[in-house]
Amino acid sequence: MGEVSQYTVVILGDAETEAVRFMCHEGESIAEAAEREGVMLRIACNNGGCGACRAEILAGEVGYLRPVSQKKRFDVRTQKMCELLCRATPLSNLILKPLNPWLNRGKISWKKYVQNINEG
Ligand code: FES
Repeated sequence: MGEVSQYTVVILGDAETEAVRFMCHEGESIAEAAEREGVMLRIACNNGGCGACRAEILAGEVGYLRPVSQKKRFDVRTQKMCELLCRATPLSNLILKPLNPWLNRGKISWKKYVQNINEG
């Protein structure tokens, strides 16, 4: 049996500063990996049908574990076709930016997280 690939996922915040990075196995949804790492994405239906978890992929490629609503991948506000993180799995290292706000460990904002890191 072959080894399962795993990739680095970087999630950006509002100012497009790198905010968090974690590993995600191919075949695992990005939302599952994020949750394991304490990153709280905006997830509602968790089945590819609502669009709450839309993200713009800035680098890399994703595939889908199961079907998703193509209509819900399209973000009317930005007029961009996005990926749905509750069902997307990485096929390469990724840099992505969720369209909805997200939180990281301890439920603090990514800005606060970055500030805390900078302050040591
Ligand atoms: S949470 Fe609804 S599409 Fe991902």
